[in-house]
Amino acid sequence: MCGIVAYIGTQQAYPILIKGLQRLEYRGYDSAGIALLNGNLNIYKKKGKVNDLISFVEDKNVDATCGIGHTRWATHGKPDDLNAHPHISGNGRLTLVHNGIIENYALLKEALKNEGHVFHTQTDTEVLVHLIEEVQKRNKLPIEEAVREALTQVEGAYAIVVIDKEDPGKLVGARKGSPLVIGIGNDGFFLASDGTPIVEHTKKVIYLEDEQVAVVRRNGDYEIRTINNEIHTPFIDELTMEIGRMEKDGYDYFMLKEIHEQPRTIADAMRGRINAEKNLIRLDGLDDFKGQIDAAERFIIVGCGTSWHAGLIGKYLFEDLARIPVEVEYASEFRYRNPVVKSSDVVIAISQSGETADTYAALELAKKQGAFLYGVVNSVGSSITRLTDAGSYIHAGPEIGVASTKAFTGQVTLLTLMAIKIARERNQISEEHYSKLLHEFEKIPAKAKKVMELDDKIKYIASEIKDSPNALYLGRGFNFPVALEGALKLKEISYIHAEGYPAAEMKHGPIALIDENMPVIVIATNKSLNEKIVSNIKQVKARKGIVIAVVTEGDKNIGEIADYTIAIPETEEPFSPLLSVIPLQLLSYHIAVMRGCNVDQPRNLAKSVTVE
Ligand code: G6P
Repeated sequence: MCGIVAYIGTQQAYPILIKGLQRLEYRGYDSAGIALLNGNLNIYKKKGKVNDLISFVEDKNVDATCGIGHTRWATHGKPDDLNAHPHISGNGRLTLVHNGIIENYALLKEALKNEGHVFHTQTDTEVLVHLIEEVQKRNKLPIEEAVREALTQVEGAYAIVVIDKEDPGKLVGARKGSPLVIGIGNDGFFLASDGTPIVEHTKKVIYLEDEQVAVVRRNGDYEIRTINNEIHTPFIDELTMEIGRMEKDGYDYFMLKEIHEQPRTIADAMRGRINAEKNLIRLDGLDDFKGQIDAAERFIIVGCGTSWHAGLIGKYLFEDLARIPVEVEYASEFRYRNPVVKSSDVVIAISQSGETADTYAALELAKKQGAFLYGVVNSVGSSITRLTDAGSYIHAGPEIGVASTKAFTGQVTLLTLMAIKIARERNQISEEHYSKLLHEFEKIPAKAKKVMELDDKIKYIASEIKDSPNALYLGRGFNFPVALEGALKLKEISYIHAEGYPAAEMKHGPIALIDENMPVIVIATNKSLNEKIVSNIKQVKARKGIVIAVVTEGDKNIGEIADYTIAIPETEEPFSPLLSVIPLQLLSYHIAVMRGCNVDQPRNLAKSVTVE
C-alpha cells in the first residue's frame, strides 16, 4: 500500500528518493511521484511503475538536497498522473505525500471550497494539503505548527511528510494509524513508511507514534511534539534488517527467493527457542507473562489474509495439543461486530508487516476490553508490536513478494512452538510425547529443504494445468487451512479463480463444478484421515477431475488414483502444514510465471494494508 520516502540533508535527494521508492515497490502501488525543493518545487508524478517515473524525469531538473517521494495505491480517485502524490497547496507553497485515508475529507473540502479553495483531483490528500495551507495562512504559523493544528481537524489515518518552500531547511512528518519511521543519518534525515528505504543509509531510527508531529532540519536538529503540542523525547531504535536480504540474490523473483529461503527462515524462527536434547522450549514472550498465559480461558487469534490462515492452523494446534479453546477471527469482522472479549482471554495477533490497519484496530478493541495481547509478527518495531503486551518475532527477514510465503511458515513455526510449550505447561501431553514432538520439530528445516528438490516435478505439473480458469484445493484437519492458503496463493499471483475447501465439504457444493477441466489439488498427508481422503479423491475422479495430490513419501493408496502426486517427507501430523504448503507455493509461482504475470507485484494487491 502507499509508500513514503523523504530526505533532507547535504546529499542529492533524487537518487535517494528513487532508490527508496524502488525499495517500497513491494508494498503494492499503481502510481509514483516525487517533489524536489531547490528554490522552486519541482513535482514529477506518473501512473504506473517507478521505472515509468524515472523515464519521465530523465530530462528534468533533479538538483536538490530536499525532497519527498511516494508510491500510491489508489483509494480515492483512479490511478492516474493527476491523482498521484505529491499534492500541492493552492498557493503553490506546500507539497505533501500521504498514506492513509482522511475520513472527513468531504466535509473539510466543502468548508475549504467556501473559503475559495479550488481542487483539481478527487483525492482526500489534496484536501489535507489545502487544509494545512488554510491554517497556515490564517494563523501565520510555521509549517510544523500549521500541520499540527490542521491535524486536530482530521479524522482517519495518515502518515504524511510536508515541504514548505518558504521554509526550505526542514521537513515535517506526522502519523496516526499509518507508519512513519525517521532515519537519523550522518548527513541528513530520512523519513519513510518502513525501514527498507532507510537501512542502507543509517540504522538509527525513531518510530513515530500516533498523533505525533516531527520536524527534522537540514542542520541536524529535530523535534517531536504530540498533536496537543507536548514535547516528546523519542527512543532511538536500531534497524535490524540487512540489505542483503532485500536483494533477489540471482532469483527471478523475490517470491521464488523467499520460498527457497524457508528451510533457513523456519530454522531462524526456532533458533535459540528449542532444544530437544535439553527437552526445552524457551519463548521469552510466554515465559515473561506466564501468569496471564496460564490463567487464559480462551485464545482469540486475529489476522488477515495469509496471516489468518496461519491463525487457523494455530487453532488446530492449540486445541489439539494444549486443549485451549480458540477462536480465529478475521480482524476486519472482529473489530466491527461487537465481539465478546473477556479479561481472561489472550488475543493473539498474527501479522507479517505488523501494520495491517484492521488487525491493529482489532487489538485496540480487545485491549479496551481488558484482554492480554500477544503478537506474532515479522516486522521489528512495527505498530502491532508496540501495542501488544508481549510477543514473539518470527525473524523471517524482509518479505518483499506481495504473496506471503516465508512469513506464513515463520508464523506457523512460532504457533507450533507456543502450542507445544503451553501443552506441556498445562499437562496436556505426556513427557514422552513432548520430547518426541521436539525431536521431530527440529528436523523440519531439513525436511523443508527436501521439499525444494521437488521443484522440477512441480514445474511440470504447473505446465499441465496453467491454462485452467479454475482450481479447487481440498484438505482435511491440519491440511484444511493449507488448502485455503494454496488457493489464495494461486489467485493472488496468477489470477486463476481458486477455492479452498474442507475435503469432505466438497459434496455440499463444489463437486458440481468438477469435470475433466477442473484441477483439484488435494493435500493428503494426514495419516489419521488417509482412508477418508482416498474416498474424497475417488469422488473427484468419478467426475473426471484432474487430481494433483500432495502425499507423504511411501504413500501408495493415493498414488494409484491421482493423476499427479507430489510426495513430501513424513512428519508428525501437526507439523505437516509447514511442509505441505511449500509445493503449493511453488505450483502457484510457476503457473504465474508461465502465464506472464508479475509475481512480486500482482495487480491491485498491497503488501502492507494500512487502510481498512
Ligand atoms: C495483504 C498481503 C498478504 C497478507 C495480508 C495480511 O493482503 O498481501 O500477504 O497476508 O495483507 O498482512 P499482515 O502484514 O498483517 O500479515
